[in-house]
Amino acid sequence: MDSVTVVNHPLVQHKLTFMRKKETSTAGFRRLLREISLLLCYEVTRELPTTMETIETPLAEMQSPVLEGKKLVFASVLRAGNGLLDGMLDLVPSARVAHIGLYRDHETLEPVEYYFKAPEDLSDRLTIVVDPMLATANSAIAAVHKLKERGAKDIRFVCLLAAPEGVEKFTRAHPDVPVVTAAIDKKLNEKGYIVPGLGDAGDRMYGTK
Ligand code: PRP
Ligand code: URA
Repeated sequence: MDSVTVVNHPLVQHKLTFMRKKETSTAGFRRLLREISLLLCYEVTRELPTTMETIETPLAEMQSPVLEGKKLVFASVLRAGNGLLDGMLDLVPSARVAHIGLYRDHETLEPVEYYFKAPEDLSDRLTIVVDPMLATANSAIAAVHKLKERGAKDIRFVCLLAAPEGVEKFTRAHPDVPVVTAAIDKKLNEKGYIVPGLGDAGDRMYGTK
């Protein structure tokens, strides 16, 4: 995969526009994020290897492709990652799931870890990290670092929105991890928010502000 892929599909861009609008309701925001997650999942899994299996249709025997290798892992960066996770699990229901609990300290913008649970054997599985926002990239860098410590080698990062500063920092820290995003916005503001962005993804998903 390319190191950074921006998914320009009109459906993704249309739905993202509605997520950005400040008047979009919590329920609407969650529904749109779930819908976009299906399209982002389609993109990030585009090059998964397949193998041929012999099957019988009602009419004939044939060779038909199925996914090859060990089941993949979705790693959700809490809280907001769960908004992408559910749709992805709809498309790949047999996937394993890792949860990485991180929040940004509002003063330092450094990630604070509060939870980590992942399948034991990450070394021979594709691990797809999901978090809607790549802002300073501090959270994403820490999440991927933690997964690598647990043996993950083949990792991809999927987000909805990224800041140019975050993309730069992340790809420098983890050049082996391709990034898939729906958009790269203009900049970070002085508080580390993506501008124009969509605000605080976790708060908008769960109505906590
Ligand atoms: C948001 C978002 C990312 C992080 C991105 O989470 O979901 O995890 O900020 O910012 P960064 O790139 O500057 O690290 P937040 O810390 O607000 O936690 P929450 O999901 O629990 O609301
Ligand atoms: N986290 C968010 O939820 N939004 C931003 O703009 C930056 C970090």
